[in-house]
Amino acid sequence: MLENFVSAKELEAQACYADGVRKLVSGKGYTAFVITLGCQQNEADSERIRGILSSLGYTITQDEKIADIIIVNTCAIREHAEKRALSIIGRYKHNKSANPDTVIGVCGCMPAQAHRAEQLKHSYHYVDFVFGTGSLHRLPEFVFNALNKGKRAFVPDEQRPKIAEGLPVVRESAHKAWVSIMYGCNNFCTYCIVPYVRGRERSRLPEAVIDEVRGLVAQGYKDITLLGQNVNSYGKELEGGYNISYLLREIAKIDGEFWLHLMTSHPKDVSPELIEALGASKNIANCFHLPLQSGSSEVLKRMNRHYDIDRYMSIIDGLKAKSPDIVLTTDIIVGFPGETDEDFEKTLDIVRRVKYDSVYTFIFSPRKGTPAYEMQDQIPEQIKKARFDRLNEVQNEISRAKNEAMIGKTIKVLVDGKSKSNDQIYTSRTEGNKIVHFEADEDYTGQFIKLKITRADTFALYGEI
Ligand code: 5AD
Ligand code: SF4
Repeated sequence: MLENFVSAKELEAQACYADGVRKLVSGKGYTAFVITLGCQQNEADSERIRGILSSLGYTITQDEKIADIIIVNTCAIREHAEKRALSIIGRYKHNKSANPDTVIGVCGCMPAQAHRAEQLKHSYHYVDFVFGTGSLHRLPEFVFNALNKGKRAFVPDEQRPKIAEGLPVVRESAHKAWVSIMYGCNNFCTYCIVPYVRGRERSRLPEAVIDEVRGLVAQGYKDITLLGQNVNSYGKELEGGYNISYLLREIAKIDGEFWLHLMTSHPKDVSPELIEALGASKNIANCFHLPLQSGSSEVLKRMNRHYDIDRYMSIIDGLKAKSPDIVLTTDIIVGFPGETDEDFEKTLDIVRRVKYDSVYTFIFSPRKGTPAYEMQDQIPEQIKKARFDRLNEVQNEISRAKNEAMIGKTIKVLVDGKSKSNDQIYTSRTEGNKIVHFEADEDYTGQFIKLKITRADTFALYGEI
């Protein structure tokens, strides 16, 4: 099991680099800017990157123009995400020409692919270093070498990336926190690049996770999300028979008022024990994100998802039986190779049957290196787009109806903060992550309050105190 963790010796070596960086930046008032693309896992990684950079003596800034170090944390899940990352990296060329001492690093899922690392090496000369998601703990070393004008560094992850415990964290929010419980993915869904860029599954020790959550609750955090590509397989490689249900039950025992969320589950691994554990405490939020991907069992087979629609629906029925008003959300891909009109109709059928509160819809994007990239019968773009629009149309009607059904109810929300456009309007979230806007004279940011819902549309609710 120890082989899953970065050794104390390696962490000590990084501490020496960190001392070296601190000497170089001391008293210079250097600032750091970190930009994040992609999923919550990347958000969580960026909080660690900011933590490391501030421990090195940098002040975190939101102003990319003046930053002395810029880190771009990239996503590779769809082509669009990669294009966006490349265009963002492209704009930092000006920072380097304006100030040649600016340090520029690229990390995350995109450069973990060899062809992208090569592209960054040859076409983006101003990028100082590039590293994969499994090498984040080596940031002090990369910064030290860049400040010393060493060679540009292109660091591929190890064959089996490891978990680094104890890295500093600067969190975005004072009331919402991500807690990674595991890293990587073993599932190899045929469309997905994640297992290639984030390596095999490895779980943090339960004590480490539970202590982190306990610390967060003590600091006043009220919304905690346990993160992993497939949180349902948490603990599989740990000794002691730990699993996600154990983790939920132990965390739910922590004293304090908070919501616990899970992100993301894989239907093939949802056990009756987990459904039972979800209802074990009021601290466990009454919502569940269960990616469907397709409503056709044939398509699911070609996606290598290891469940069929009967199995999927039995989980949904189990969740609804335990808690009839549970908020359900999902991910769906349209236009997977070979998806027929009939397959697509089956997806619409499941969407209508489940009545999700919201659906994250995606157009299939072929990722180089995945089996689906090579599959015959790729679907033409205009058909994919038409299915995407149709799916959203069907779901939007359901979302609106479900939101409208909440009018008149009084519900508990966690206040996120002021709306960007209007000082008197606040934004909050329900337990099921629905957005609720309301007006207030007092600032309740970070607190639980009760709102009466007065109005609803497809994407938001409106309420009053
Ligand atoms: N194309 C489109 N969507 C994808 N996803 C993952 N890979 C792809 C791809 N190649 C979607 C899945 C997953 C979500 C995070 O992104 O629905 O659940
Ligand atoms: Fe990708 Fe499938 Fe792993 Fe999710 S479970 S990260 S979709 S391979």
